[in-house]
Amino acid sequence: MNYTTVYFSPTSTSEKNAVSITEELASGKKYGRIDLTAYSARCTEAAFSGDDFVVFGMPVYRGRVPIVAAQRLARIRGQQTPCIVTVTYGNRNYDDALLELADLVEANGFVVKAAAALIGQHTWGQVQVGRPDASDMQEHERFAKDFLAAVKRLPDTAGEVLAIKGNRPYREGGTGGIFRPLTADTCIGCGTCVRSCPVGAIGSDCRTVDSERCVSCFRCIRICPVQAKNMNDSNYLKFAEDFTKKLATRRENEYFLPL
Ligand SMILES: Cc1cc2nc3c(=O)[nH]c(=O)nc-3n(C[C@H](O)[C@H](O)[C@H](O)COP(=O)(O)O)c2cc1C
Repeated sequence: MNYTTVYFSPTSTSEKNAVSITEELASGKKYGRIDLTAYSARCTEAAFSGDDFVVFGMPVYRGRVPIVAAQRLARIRGQQTPCIVTVTYGNRNYDDALLELADLVEANGFVVKAAAALIGQHTWGQVQVGRPDASDMQEHERFAKDFLAAVKRLPDTAGEVLAIKGNRPYREGGTGGIFRPLTADTCIGCGTCVRSCPVGAIGSDCRTVDSERCVSCFRCIRICPVQAKNMNDSNYLKFAEDFTKKLATRRENEYFLPL
């Protein structure tokens, strides 16, 4: 079996979660990675066979798979390829995102064998900072081991036996937020944010942000080597303070294994 992880992950939590599960499944063997995050990856294509196994990792945006990520997923095709779908969310709720992701990949030729709704630090405010943490990683390891044991027990397990939470029709969502990054005078114009922006919203001067395109993913803020990109705006700071309090109670990872 050849393992690959396919992800869209502006602030790297979905990547971290999906990679840890893939690593465990591959148990020391090499595995592939397809990163759909950067704007330059919007035309990435891949085709998998029945000898492959894919672990998908996507964040939750307003209870759904980000629209921009769903568009990129359409170019990743399977041929009865077994897979695990994972969504990572910021401690509020994943709503219909996991079910939607399972539906999206099944429509593309994958067979969903297991699923997981996992916690990551929220993009906004200071919610579950540092997650996924070491204890999340241990749980993912357990999940991967349980999954491999279930496959041995039930080799032909199909997706239908998974009781993935969510509703159809899905709720409205998948869209970005209202916050737009600011750029401090310390910007050195290195272009890191320009190259990394998932939606190509930052002009070549590193400063101009296309408000229509930006989805408030905060990737530019997290990766700027001199911390010039920021959200030092009073409206955001007030929102972040309230939001952090509202989502303070730790939620746990949920795993969906074949019955
Ligand atoms: C536009 C937007 C919408 C979000 N919507 C939700 C949500 O509905 N529920 C939730 O718990 N977290 C939500 N989050 C938080 C992300 O799901 C969370 O931070 C996730 O870990 C980000 O994944 P990444 O690190 O792979 O980018 C949202 C984040 C953004 C940017």
